[in-house]
Amino acid sequence: MTTYYDEIASGYEELHREEQEKKVAIVKKELKITENMLLLDVGCGTGVTSNFPCKIIGVDPAEKLLERFTAPLAKHAETILGQAEDLPFPAEQFDAVVSLTAIQNFEDIGQGIKEMHRVGKKECQYALSFLKKSEKRGEIKKIIEKHFKIVKEIEEEKDLILIARKA
Ligand SMILES: C[S@@+](CC[C@H](N)C(=O)[O-])C[C@H]1O[C@@H](n2cnc3c(N)ncnc32)[C@H](O)[C@@H]1O
Repeated sequence: MTTYYDEIASGYEELHREEQEKKVAIVKKELKITENMLLLDVGCGTGVTSNFPCKIIGVDPAEKLLERFTAPLAKHAETILGQAEDLPFPAEQFDAVVSLTAIQNFEDIGQGIKEMHRVGKKECQYALSFLKKSEKRGEIKKIIEKHFKIVKEIEEEKDLILIARKA
């Protein structure tokens, strides 16, 4: 299936790298990531948001973005073509889960958020963000609050970033 993001893949970084790097810098201050940790980036795109100094798995449905994936800081990185709603992992696998500016694009937001909750270890650190201008903003926040304990809410220029733990 070709998605909107496949279509804009060649220009994605020119359009969005700078703004996404600002969000990653904020998240890096909030999460304590060490090199043996396993981090999942849901809706990883080209890897701008996967650039953490640990082991990374990125999941995204846009094959053309994944073809451009790089994460230079990662100790090991791999990508999986897939969707948040059906993450191909057993429960409680990840030390950290990030999903930056992707949740508003999920077809089934509730299912995607439940899946991210399922695959995190008990002490998993989460950073979940979505566009403040999204009409689904209220719905997304409610669903995240239902499943997670919010540690911090950060109003970034374009996104609301929620730092969270398993409730
Ligand atoms: C604005 S981009 C953000 C990409 C990356 N996180 C970044 O910040 O550069 C939104 C991403 O969500 C992905 N996406 C859309 N539907 C998705 C789904 N159901 N599950 C996971 N990712 C999805 C898109 O393919 C795209 O890569």
